[in-house]
Amino acid sequence: MRFNTIIEPFRIKSVEPIRQTTPEERRDALKAAHNNVFLLHSRDVLIDLLTDSGTGAMSVYQWSGMMKGDESYAGARSFDAFEKSVRDITGFGHVIPTHQGRAAEHILFHALVAKGDIVPNNTHFDTTRANVEDVGGVPLDLPIAEGREAQSTNPFKGNMDIAALERTLEKYGDRVPLVMVTVTNNSEGGQPVSLTNIREVSAVCKRFGVPFFIDACRFAENAWLIKSREAQFGHRTPRSIAQEMFSLADGCTMSAKKDGMANIGGFLAMNNGSLAAKCRTRLVLTEGFPTYGGLAGYDLEAIAVGLNEALDEDYLRYRIRSIEYLGEKLLDAGVPIVTPTGGHAIYLDAKQMLPHIPQSEYPAWALSLVLYIEGGIRAAEIGSVMFGRKPDGTERAAPLELVRLAFPRRVYTQSHVDYVAEVVCHVNGIASRVRGVRIVEAPAVLRHFTARMTPAHGQLVMPAGFGLGAMT
Ligand code: F0G
Repeated sequence: MRFNTIIEPFRIKSVEPIRQTTPEERRDALKAAHNNVFLLHSRDVLIDLLTDSGTGAMSVYQWSGMMKGDESYAGARSFDAFEKSVRDITGFGHVIPTHQGRAAEHILFHALVAKGDIVPNNTHFDTTRANVEDVGGVPLDLPIAEGREAQSTNPFKGNMDIAALERTLEKYGDRVPLVMVTVTNNSEGGQPVSLTNIREVSAVCKRFGVPFFIDACRFAENAWLIKSREAQFGHRTPRSIAQEMFSLADGCTMSAKKDGMANIGGFLAMNNGSLAAKCRTRLVLTEGFPTYGGLAGYDLEAIAVGLNEALDEDYLRYRIRSIEYLGEKLLDAGVPIVTPTGGHAIYLDAKQMLPHIPQSEYPAWALSLVLYIEGGIRAAEIGSVMFGRKPDGTERAAPLELVRLAFPRRVYTQSHVDYVAEVVCHVNGIASRVRGVRIVEAPAVLRHFTARMTPAHGQLVMPAGFGLGAMT
């Protein structure tokens, strides 16, 4: 290539204004939201990095596809387009639309998992874990050890521990109804899984006769990271890598809100016809008829187009580079982040940035609040508020205290990223003045969505001149 600048591979045809607010206004908004960024109004947020799920911008081809949506209850033309796109990429014969990823998980586990069964995964996403538990199964995370080391430079920290998988299948083989691999591994920092690792998981599953399913939410980002980091696959297209990933599995669950480039939707796909029939029976009860599965015809059209756009090389290059670019800026400024940068997000390491805040005072949560107050940035805590409460009601600190800056697809430009870098660096500079928080009120499960929090020491950010020495 002649020039080095990687540009956003689109021009902007329709814009959505975002509103500047002052730190004072944001302090008031946060107070009204009980110090929980999930409870903020989006109009009070400048840059929204809460999630990359369903928040992307659709292309003109997706919008025009939506105008063609066939809203027939059964046998809609839009289903045929959707099924064709899914089949072309995954190769799976049975394609079952659902309203989003967790519905596909719910239906699959109801069909396959019995009480006491064990479901290994590199790392379960929280809805996947909850859906395994919902049918009485035991979710078992088997990430490689480096997956949990924030500063490890392993290019495939999302990999599954193959030896641990073998041990699990030897010990509990008859109690394991399926093995799952999540690409990219969202809960361990959006880290990719190598094609070699997927091949190995597939071979082990075949040897033990256990079905292998992929949680495919970010399959295109994973394919790009394989292309760019796994030397022997550098010459392949992301599409051909994705096709091979799926060919190694027996089925997949998918949230089309991520690499489906849609605002809603998902699917379940597989080769086994009798399992598919069982899933469709439940689908009719909970989602809808098998050719729409909880979606409008126009949603199916948007996904049919979006799945292919997600594999476009210019798009993937820009997408992954923009995350890496932010990562480089932060690392240059000494901001602790999970490395290497992965697919959809930057993960700030709050334990390192705020070492003076004990985990019992939720450093990552405090950091998410300060990012909002200082710069209007909304990001999600992935730490002890999200994971610290155990089913028996006891509290145990999470292994990592992270704040995830997740980037919606095709929404923000380089100047937005530059702004985010500037705000994060500023917050890093005042880190010693930031104080912890405590829970005022929270529900027993998934408490991070609605918890009411308050500063543990009167103020979240102490005035300038208030260094660590002034803490006591
Ligand atoms: N699996 C993974 C790896 C996910 O990241 C998600 C959603 C799901 C399954 C469930 O899909 O939301 O369509 O029901 N992740 C979002 C996030 C919510 O913010 O990471 P869904």
